[in-house]
Amino acid sequence: MKKEVKIVLFVSGKGSNANAVIDFSLKSKAFSVVAIYASSPKSQALLLAKEHGLHNECITDDDLLGRALFERLNDQSISLIVLAGFLRKIPVSFLNGFQGKMINIHPSLLPEHGGAGMYGIRVHEAVIAANEKKSGCTIHYVDQGYDTGAIIAQFSCDVMPDDTPASLAARVLKLEHESLPKTIEQIVTP
Ligand code: GRF
Repeated sequence: MKKEVKIVLFVSGKGSNANAVIDFSLKSKAFSVVAIYASSPKSQALLLAKEHGLHNECITDDDLLGRALFERLNDQSISLIVLAGFLRKIPVSFLNGFQGKMINIHPSLLPEHGGAGMYGIRVHEAVIAANEKKSGCTIHYVDQGYDTGAIIAQFSCDVMPDDTPASLAARVLKLEHESLPKTIEQIVTP
């Protein structure tokens, strides 16, 4: 039987979190991923979507500002939009229509090491520079700020004394792959 909870993924980069969410959804009864929207035609996540036969599309700032994408997602009764490494700013007009239905994952324990310009390896460089003993990931609702929305869940891991930004990034990313699908399941399960 077709699952009723439909989610879509917004992705800019590699899409390894998108991959983890799709893998989980294939085994879970909780939700289906119905589409991947990428901010760049180069995003590997578009290939991932094609492999799984999912709707896939590149979206621009104008698409996020216009009505067509908004209305399509609305008409499809999408339960959740997951920003899985999506680097475009979501305009207020779009956000208002999906209040409480849009989440983001960030690779640090917010509110530490978040905000404008804090993405990718810069986050892990900042964690190491601050001599943090713990890092991890945060899943939060999207609001008008950068990484400022209400926190839904946080998952932590150790920062090792010999960590480089790259080794820490790899540890945190593994944690993201485990925690994002489970958190989505919790959000959409009544
Ligand atoms: C992740 O670290 C996520 O926390 C951040 O962007 C990265 C996306 O990685 N928002 P990937 O494209 O899922 O591999």
